Order: sequence, then structure tokens, then C-alpha cells
Amino acid sequence: MPPAVITIAELAAHAGETVTLRGWVYNWRKKGKLRFIILRDGFGYLQCVVFEPEVDPAVWEAAVALTQESSVVVTGTLVADERAPGGYELKVTGIETIQVAPEYPIGKKDHGPDFLLNHRHLWLRSRRQHAIMRVRSELSQAIRDFFYSRSYTLIDSPILTPAAAEGTSSLFETDYFGEAKAYLSQSGQLYLEPAAAALGKVYCFGPTFRAEKSKTRRHLTEFWMVEPEVAWLRFDGLLDLCEEFLAEIVARVIDRCRVDLERLERDTTKLEPATRRPYPRIDYGDAIVKLQSLGQQIQFGGDFGGDDETVLAEQYDRPVMVTRYPAQVKAFYMQLDPADPIRALAVDVLAPEGYGEIIGGSERSDSLEHLERQIAAHGLPREAYEWYLDVRKYGSFPHSGFGMGIERCVAWLCGVPHLRETSPFPRLINRLYP
Ligand code: 4AD
Ligand code: MG
Repeated sequence: MPPAVITIAELAAHAGETVTLRGWVYNWRKKGKLRFIILRDGFGYLQCVVFEPEVDPAVWEAAVALTQESSVVVTGTLVADERAPGGYELKVTGIETIQVAPEYPIGKKDHGPDFLLNHRHLWLRSRRQHAIMRVRSELSQAIRDFFYSRSYTLIDSPILTPAAAEGTSSLFETDYFGEAKAYLSQSGQLYLEPAAAALGKVYCFGPTFRAEKSKTRRHLTEFWMVEPEVAWLRFDGLLDLCEEFLAEIVARVIDRCRVDLERLERDTTKLEPATRRPYPRIDYGDAIVKLQSLGQQIQFGGDFGGDDETVLAEQYDRPVMVTRYPAQVKAFYMQLDPADPIRALAVDVLAPEGYGEIIGGSERSDSLEHLERQIAAHGLPREAYEWYLDVRKYGSFPHSGFGMGIERCVAWLCGVPHLRETSPFPRLINRLYP
């Protein structure tokens, strides 16, 4: 019987056996009659040792010819070895070379971000990028499980839309058969509101697009957003939902991505407070006073800049929820604060350690008249929103929701400074390749 073909995730069950693994040469080094080949297979890394006196000459020849990122099928005896990275080592008896790779563009030397982004398709193979993608995948699953286990219905909102959801300045426009303009969705929210009237508790999770002219480390032009929308939920309940959501998904990632977070040298003690509720809640007005006392230039009525967010969040060990922003700095659809109608029932959740806003949410206006005025005041074409207004005409109801960009959350969880590393193939103002 041929040896079992296994992955590096399954080593523990096969100690002492002869096994076959398929992968790529991550790295290699030589020492006399020994060749150490670090094999990676997408699940992990395994040191494979070839000892010239103990293998067929053909196997030795094959081992010597291998280069970084050559693809191979390796057979050998799996031995537990405390000194080996990962605790196992393969004593190689056979090598089938699939392809010998020419000199690999990504070497040991430091490459600049542009070089690495131009080679993103290869850069993904590095240990660091592997770890970030694993965290992103776990986070996505944690998000889906959070909503699934609470009986939300997944609603896939459209990508091609007739109108703006989050302001007209960051719209990607495309021609729609010469008859009309279509815009790439900035947010699924407007579609989730009618869906919440149909299904009660809904969420969407998909790509969103912003023609952001800013070149900051916190902005992508394409990112994935998760957005719940809940019928009958008021503002205070929304704050609870944000908190419950973040606490659960952060705990899940810390728990299940230990190896990846270690590889990223992430200090998880800095993440742990975020698994504990409650989170601090601070009124926008109080936040302004606090920021001014910390030397920031911001005035009441202004929106936070990236620096303001960083400085404010530094005051807390876990995410902070800033509430009740002036309506004028927020989107058209928000419910006004009955206690102070120049304010909107809006919340931004700011992550610690300089990661800025990760969640934006609000209670939605349930007043047809208010929304009609807002649409006019924001210079939006009323025809394109008739369907949205119908949600207020036919059984208007209180409802609230939020959106979280998952790249911002991954950046924070992984402790990576720039969002470009959190997306498999990031889209930035100056980058559409690869
Ligand atoms: O605050 P935003 O613009 O809110 C909305 O789009 C609402 N419609 C969401 C809702 O209530 N359903 O965006 C929400 C989140 C931000 O907090 C941030 O995490 C992320 O989306 N985000 C971006 N992420 C990466 N690059 C960008 N250019 C982003 N713009 C927003
Ligand atoms: Mg926002």
C-alpha cells in the first residue's frame, strides 16, 4: 500500500509512519551530506531532512536541484523531534519534483511595499501573509456564526445600484447599457432596511466600494463590510449589539488563531479587554471636550479626523463607542436625537492602538417627511429613492443597524499598520494590479 498522503495539519496522527506530503519549498539549507528542506503546504511548515548516505542517488540529486518555491511531493518517515520547528521532522526517502522554480523574486532582503504589492500573488505565500489570511478567514466565519446563531437571515445586497448610500463624493460610476448610470455599492444598508421589514433580523456581508481619494493606511477602495439591520431595535439596543458582536468575534479569533497571532507577534493581552463588556460609551460632546483637553484642535460640530480617533481611543483599553454625532456630519438616513435634534442617533466604535473607526451605525429615521427633506438637502435624486421611502410609507417601524469593515478589524486584531495587508488582493487609489 502506498504511504498515506497527508497535510502538515495532520502530523500528530501519523508520528512514526511513512507518509507523503505535497507542497512547495519554502526554504532550504545545506550542511555537508545533509539537506534541510522546509516544506510548506498551506497548512503549515515541516522540516524535511535528506541524508545523502541513506537515500538513492536519484533522491539526493533531486534534493540538491530544488530551489525556493519549487513544487514537490515528498515521502519519508515522520519523527517527533522536539528540536524541530513544529515538533516533527520528515526523514526523506523519496522526492518527486513537480517543477523546479526559477529564481524567486521575493528573497530574504527587505522589499519595499510597492514591490511586494506588485507581487501580491506570490507575497501571499509568506508566513506573515498566511497568518493574516487565516485570521481574516476565522473572523469572517465568526461573524457568520454570530448572526446565524441568533437567527438573522442573510440578505445578499446588490453591488450595482442606482443611487448613493453614503454620500456622492466616493461613488464608483459605470455606464448601464447607455440608458442610465449604475454605481458600485458603498453599503448594503439601504437594501437591508426593506429586508428587515420582511424578515425582522437580517445582515449582509459582501464587497463594498468607495472611490476614496485619500491615501491613508485606513482606506481601501474595495473592502468587505458586514451589516446587520434589526427591526424594533432602538439606539441603546444597537450599542449593546455592537458590544456583544465585537466581544464575541474578538474572543473567537484570540481562541482559534493563537498560532497565527503568535507568528504575527501580536500581543494578545492588548486585545483581551475587548472580549469583556461593557465598553466605554462617550457622548460626542464630551468626546470633543476630552479631545480639546488633550490638545486636539477639533471644535463641536466637526467630524473626527484620524488623529482625533487615535488620541481618543488611546484613553481606553478596549473599543470606545462615541455616540450622538451632529447630524450634519453624518449620512442622510439617520434618526435625529429627540432630546437634541441637531444630533443624530449615530455611533462610531473606535478600536484601540490607533486603528480608528471600525464600526459605524445608527438608528434609522422612521419619518417619511424627515427623509424627504434630507434627500433634498443632500442634493440626492428623489426618483432613485422612492423604493427606500416606501419602507416608511407602508408600516414604518423603528430599526437600527451598523456596518463593520472587516479589513479594519483584521488590521487591529493582527496588529498590522496598513489595511493593504489585510486584503488578499487590495484595491487602493493607485493600485488595481494584480
Ligand atoms: O461608517 P460607514 O461609512 O457606514 C456605513 O456604510 C453604514 N451604511 C453602515 C451601516 O450602518 N449599515 O462604514 C462602515 C465601516 C467603517 O466603520 C469602516 O470599518 C469601514 O466600513 N470602512 C472602510 N474600510 C476600509 N476602507 C474604506 N474606505 C472604508 N470606509 C468605511
Ligand atoms: Mg463611518
